[in-house]
Amino acid sequence: MNVSEAIAARHSVRQYQARPIEEEIVSRLKDYISQINAESGLNIQLVINEPKAFDSARAHYGKLTGISNYIALIGKKGADLNEKCGYCGQKIVLEAQMLGLNTCWVGIMFKKIPDAFTVNKGEKLALVIAIGYGATQGHERSTKTPEQVSNVSPSSPEWFRNGVECALLAPTAMNQQKFMLTLDGEKVKAKALTGPFSKVDLGIVKCHFEIGSGKDSSVWA
Ligand SMILES: Cc1cc2nc3c(=O)[nH]c(=O)nc-3n(C[C@H](O)[C@H](O)[C@H](O)COP(=O)(O)O)c2cc1C
Repeated sequence: MNVSEAIAARHSVRQYQARPIEEEIVSRLKDYISQINAESGLNIQLVINEPKAFDSARAHYGKLTGISNYIALIGKKGADLNEKCGYCGQKIVLEAQMLGLNTCWVGIMFKKIPDAFTVNKGEKLALVIAIGYGATQGHERSTKTPEQVSNVSPSSPEWFRNGVECALLAPTAMNQQKFMLTLDGEKVKAKALTGPFSKVDLGIVKCHFEIGSGKDSSVWA
């Protein structure tokens, strides 16, 4: 599976099998996370065999069941933490999908288990991503149109339309898709609109836009 196939196949999965993640897959994920941490300065950690974070009425009410592995998105406190976690977390989500795993971003329905991960002085746990072998592969959901989230028009370059379409496949909190992508010359302005976790969403959306458009981060205005 390549990254475009992973983007098309990925859906949030909330119910997981008891099947453990094989050591070799854990090791590949940890290597990838180390690489992302080295590039970004974040302190993202993979937590394996820790069922307590999702063993609550709140998680079950949110239909999150069978979760004993998750990715803790941790980094230095600051205005850019949420967007960075979104961008880097989604790269890990897509890597996980390519390794045959399923995921679900989780903003609120989990408990912080103090010994499960390390938050250094000046750092903060932003949110987590549940990971494992899903009971299903998830399902398609409703989406906004390219015109609702961007200034795309019939005369827009192909790369911009491709980027916007890929951004619409990105997970966003409560499927709110509260972002705006504006093409201005060769650059794109990405804006988070008001909504819960919309800065995390923006990072996720930028990750997808770059992949869909074939551009790197120099595309951002
Ligand atoms: C930042 C963020 C936080 C989320 N928090 C939760 C959550 O607390 N509980 C949950 O069940 N899903 C959560 N989700 C998953 C979204 O509901 C899901 O991504 C959205 O409905 C789109 O569906 P899809 O991921 O299948 O494309 C979150 C997603 C994001 C991006």
